[in-house]
Amino acid sequence: MSHAHFSFPLTRPRRLRYDAFTRDLVRESQLTVKDLIYPVFVQEGQGLRTPVPSMPGVQRLSLDQLLRVAEECVALGIPCLALFPVIDASLKTPDGEEAANPDGLVPRVVAALKQRFPQLGVMTDVALDPYTSHGQDGLPDERGYIHNDATVQQLVRQALVQAQAGVDIVAPSDMMDGRIGAIRQALETHGHVHTRIMAYSAKYASAFYGPFRDAVGSAANLGKGDKKTYQMDPANTNEALREVALDIQEGADMVMVKPGMPYLDVLWRVKQAFEVPTFAYQVSGEYAMLKAAAANGWLAHDAVMLESLLAFKRAGADGVLSYFALEAARLLKAG
Ligand code: PBG
Repeated sequence: MSHAHFSFPLTRPRRLRYDAFTRDLVRESQLTVKDLIYPVFVQEGQGLRTPVPSMPGVQRLSLDQLLRVAEECVALGIPCLALFPVIDASLKTPDGEEAANPDGLVPRVVAALKQRFPQLGVMTDVALDPYTSHGQDGLPDERGYIHNDATVQQLVRQALVQAQAGVDIVAPSDMMDGRIGAIRQALETHGHVHTRIMAYSAKYASAFYGPFRDAVGSAANLGKGDKKTYQMDPANTNEALREVALDIQEGADMVMVKPGMPYLDVLWRVKQAFEVPTFAYQVSGEYAMLKAAAANGWLAHDAVMLESLLAFKRAGADGVLSYFALEAARLLKAG
């Protein structure tokens, strides 16, 4: 063996990690409070903050309590809330008719929020599952298959009621074919030309939604049922691009990929391919996972929370729906 002459590296990537100011200068993506959409669960009643056991720190709020939370969101600069209703079991039916009740919980909450905090964005879910006695997002036929076009007609009625109540963004999360086009057309016809549509375009049939279904009380109704005939197969990404293309063509203003962390590859491909405003939903199961590990002392809570949110920005998200939004905003504000 001849004497090996050690040559020093001319390129030392570590120089750019040497101190905090240099790291600050070269950072490629950044998480700010303006990236955050805060999903909240709302229920009837007064003075209620009912904990969701599988989502530590998350509560089902009555309107008066939600207004307090909204006030803090405004103070912190969170741009938008996403509303999810907990509907009384007595109002759930096979056709989810309560979803189109103009005096229902969601339209009342939307109106109250917009009146009190006009500058705070409000987004509503367009889907029937909180309202159906079977926990599905649409209307089943005799065989239990979810009827596409009849469901879309119900979703259009639901979206119109929400728009009428003054919601800023409707977010169809049902995955029926053609619903974005049908909703867009109905909104235009009824003069709601400013109502934005954020389409849950690539929404997967995911087991990570479990805690959410506990929160809105659809888990027991759904039972052993699944949503695989309308939500996407977790194995597919080309299909996600086709779904996004359709939703944009049908009139979506913004698109979404859901769940979040296990689907960052999908998020990346969607953003690269379409360059439209693209959002990610860090769903209930992802939240539950990180909370559980932190509660056990296995992960550092604040650090993993911010790292997980930053990962969405790096992968191309313009914003993130996350149950961590409030905690993250407090932390970002504190610097
Ligand atoms: C309803 C809806 C779901 C979620 C958002 N909207 C549940 C589902 O599709 O079964 C899941 C959100 C979460 O898990 O945090 N269509």
